[in-house]
Amino acid sequence: MSADHRLVLGIETSCDETAAAVVAQGADIRSSVVSSQVDLHARFGGVVPEIASRAHVELLTPVVAEALVESGAEGPDMHAVAATVGPGLVGSLLVGVAGAKALALVWDIPFVGVNHLEAHLFSAFVEDPSLQFPLVALLVSGGHTMLVAMEGHGHYRLLGSTVDDAAGEAFDKVARFLGLGYPGGPAIDRVAITGDPTAVRFPRAMLDAGYDFSFSGLKTAVVNYVRQHPEAATEDVAASFQQAVVDVLVAKARRAAREIGATSVCLGGGVAANSALREQILDAAAEDGLNAFLPSRAMCTDNAAMVAAAGWWHLGIDGASPLDTGVEPNLALPLT
Ligand code: KG4
Ligand code: ZN
Repeated sequence: MSADHRLVLGIETSCDETAAAVVAQGADIRSSVVSSQVDLHARFGGVVPEIASRAHVELLTPVVAEALVESGAEGPDMHAVAATVGPGLVGSLLVGVAGAKALALVWDIPFVGVNHLEAHLFSAFVEDPSLQFPLVALLVSGGHTMLVAMEGHGHYRLLGSTVDDAAGEAFDKVARFLGLGYPGGPAIDRVAITGDPTAVRFPRAMLDAGYDFSFSGLKTAVVNYVRQHPEAATEDVAASFQQAVVDVLVAKARRAAREIGATSVCLGGGVAANSALREQILDAAAEDGLNAFLPSRAMCTDNAAMVAAAGWWHLGIDGASPLDTGVEPNLALPLT
């Protein structure tokens, strides 16, 4: 059997999701399997790195097998195998990268190392390959908050990023304080639906100052408010906190789009699954005459289809990665 030159197997293990996907030509998702470890980490209120790497070791083989079966293809049909090399938890990254290299050797196909942040930027293109440049991408996850100007694939200009907590981290910390559990983003999203987003006027940090973000003062403001107003309804506090985050994200994204003359705006990262952010960025884009593209919620949070898509693109541009490529827990987005 000869390899199908269109197929890339993607592997993602940078944090607490073990994921594998088969994607044809960087856009046609044949399968995408994500096994979340949320239940393993929930009682600790956050991801425990050692538990995460051990779980990846157990889950990687069955998750890859399921992705292959669902795709209707077999291992040797793959043209390449791509895996996230960073940023992320070192032990978790090592499991996926070692597994991907082993498969590349066994099937005698190229291995491609992928930057997790760049993969998130590819997630919108997997679902809408016609997305137009120049665009502004808002990448909001548990570890990162970045506003990126894209002239094309591989051409990233960082407009701003967080100076303290990432947006997802703020959701997780506030949810924990409010007793809403882990992961906090989806919990706040759910509770906020029945709350009043105007109940408490929390600060919108750095709203008009450049493109950097700051969320740690907002978290402290929530804590202080709840201590002073123990009678406040959790739904109202959650909705008001969420609105403060969304206001800043949307205001900076639309201002950036205007400044760089972008035609489109897109979202990526786990916080891009947030209902209020999705709704309000769509409204803002409509008002400003921008195309907005929001990946499906499953494509916003960590998955391997976005890794396969980024891997396919890199293979075409740069070729395979050497097999001695290491993992890089602090890898940054390659900027132009
Ligand atoms: O991109 P992701 O899956 O993993 C990282 O690379 O960090 O993002 C996870 C983050 C977590 O902080 C989680 O609370 C947040 O995304 N998140 C959300 C929602 N779903 C996930 N935040 C707000 N609203 C959501 N619906
Ligand atoms: Zn991520």
